Amino acid sequence: MNSRDSEHMIAELREKEGYETTDDFKQADLILINTCSVRERPVHKLFSELGGFNKHKKPSAKIGVCGCTASHLGEEIIKKAPYVNFVLGARNVSKITEVLHKNKAVEIDINYDESEFAFKDFRTSAYKGFINISIGCDKACTFCIVPKTRGDEISIPDSLIINEAKRIVATGAKEIFLLGQNVNNYGRRFSSNDHKKVNFSELLRRLSKIEKLERIRFTSPHPFHMDDEFIEEFASNPKICKSMHMPLQSGSTKVLKDMKRGYTKEWFLNRVAKLRSMCPEATISTDIIVGFPGESDEDFAETIDVLNQVKFEQVFSFKYSPRPETEAEHFTNVVDGEVASDRLSFLQSLNNEIIDEKNATLLGNTYRIYFEVLHSDGHAAGRSDNNILVKVKGSEELLGQMKNVKITTIGRTILTGEIVA
Ligand code: 5AD
Ligand code: SF4
Repeated sequence: MNSRDSEHMIAELREKEGYETTDDFKQADLILINTCSVRERPVHKLFSELGGFNKHKKPSAKIGVCGCTASHLGEEIIKKAPYVNFVLGARNVSKITEVLHKNKAVEIDINYDESEFAFKDFRTSAYKGFINISIGCDKACTFCIVPKTRGDEISIPDSLIINEAKRIVATGAKEIFLLGQNVNNYGRRFSSNDHKKVNFSELLRRLSKIEKLERIRFTSPHPFHMDDEFIEEFASNPKICKSMHMPLQSGSTKVLKDMKRGYTKEWFLNRVAKLRSMCPEATISTDIIVGFPGESDEDFAETIDVLNQVKFEQVFSFKYSPRPETEAEHFTNVVDGEVASDRLSFLQSLNNEIIDEKNATLLGNTYRIYFEVLHSDGHAAGRSDNNILVKVKGSEELLGQMKNVKITTIGRTILTGEIVA
């Protein structure tokens, strides 16, 4: 989502203010830092990076701090780093060309409604296009700062999304990537009642009618909203890529309750079973937090049990990090830091074993790969429909092409293959 926000800011600045991007910040007239605040580490990084930029930038260059950390720290950023020219929250991206001309502007209204703002076009990839389908988040997961930085959830009207998808496809890209904090809660609320109610499954059906659009990806769906209609649409619609992100967070129903996730371990496993039975080729990724307040050895064992049962293709795992303005910040049954670190390493090494075991079975398989990036070692890389990352020897001419590739070498994060007819 932050990447798409950055693209929106670049688009506005290029079209309305004549800016171009540069790889060398010492040449820049404007330095924007788009921040995350989901965990604590990126927040610390912000101030050290700001110092570095301030020291080495052109004297006349302006610095703007944008994104979620901007939303939640606001004015404090300018107090701590007085050379910062403006602060622009994650829900105020459309005001970028305004704050640019105001000294020390702080625009961080988390309920500012930019769900229908007509952003100018700019995309970093020629092969796929990100599309926001909603802004904000209506959930109240007790560990999560996002509702406090991105505000209430508002869906973007389907007509705008479909037009954006058509524009992307018209440039030759074959893939769209839909973005929202809870994509499968799409359609719950629009900024005006005039918009007809369309749910996420219906949105997917409408998008898949776009000719020449070949692949639709999305993130993140919420396990709570994974109803049968959604899983059936996912499984049966050939344009929907068969990789599902299912953020588990914890395998313990007790911890899930304390996190206010709205589902149980059994519901999660039931949804995985439904998905796997309807769509055996689907790969599943997840997010897991270890060391959430009150997580006992038994609770952690439940998470490990889910890992062993589901055998996710990809796991993003994090040590719990208390965040300001969240409910869990005040929970007192804190898990010892070392215990949490041990759990994280245990989980990660188990997951590596699972991945190695799964990847070994892929040797000799053939996948249709959509080539998107060049590696400096003479390889081009891309993904299969079910999100397997594969590289082959090759150069520019492969980019934007879909080719059948047979897997010849297994690696943990990327497989190597050769193009077959
Ligand atoms: N501590 C650790 N991880 C967190 N996440 C969100 N908030 C926190 C937190 N306070 C993780 C969740 C989420 C992912 C984007 O970041 O797993 O799904
Ligand atoms: Fe955060 Fe929960 Fe919303 Fe995801 S669903 S953004 S974890 S509050």
